[in-house]
Amino acid sequence: MALERTFSIIKPDATRRNITGKVVSMLEEGGLRVIAQKRIQMTKEQAEGFYAVHKERPFFGDLVSFMTSGPVVVQVLEGENAIARNREIMGATNPENADAGTIRKELAESIEANTVHGSDAPETAKDEIAYFFSEDEIVG
Ligand code: PPS
Repeated sequence: MALERTFSIIKPDATRRNITGKVVSMLEEGGLRVIAQKRIQMTKEQAEGFYAVHKERPFFGDLVSFMTSGPVVVQVLEGENAIARNREIMGATNPENADAGTIRKELAESIEANTVHGSDAPETAKDEIAYFFSEDEIVG
């Protein structure tokens, strides 16, 4: 399979605990390459737009508050089958259900403070990358 790109966020629980390097190591050891990365403080409007697909869900307000509670690291990852591969490395949304060795099992605090976000499909990956990065910031 050709190289694929996916979008990733290292969430505020990880920047707060100063473990972003540990997350990057797990992504790299899993076969993914960081081809763009920046640390940002998301605004409420930015987070609401990013998570708009979840706006009717009961946890939407909490999710937006959490994602704006501190800095995040947004990334573009590249690799073979990168979207599915990243989701394997991340593990299940709820760390209680995540497999041993995954980022969420080893590092996440809760279903909300679950350390990482990763795109779930090619179309979302494309849109999510474009939401945070311009083409000239991505160096493959
Ligand atoms: S998924 O992967 O979209 O099926 O996961 P889903 O369960 O639909 O969750 C979507 C995002 O919402 C976050 N989430 C929550 N935040 C706060 N409180 C509760 N209870 C909660 N449940 C789910 C979850 O971490 C997902 O965030 P992202 O950034 O997309 O991984």
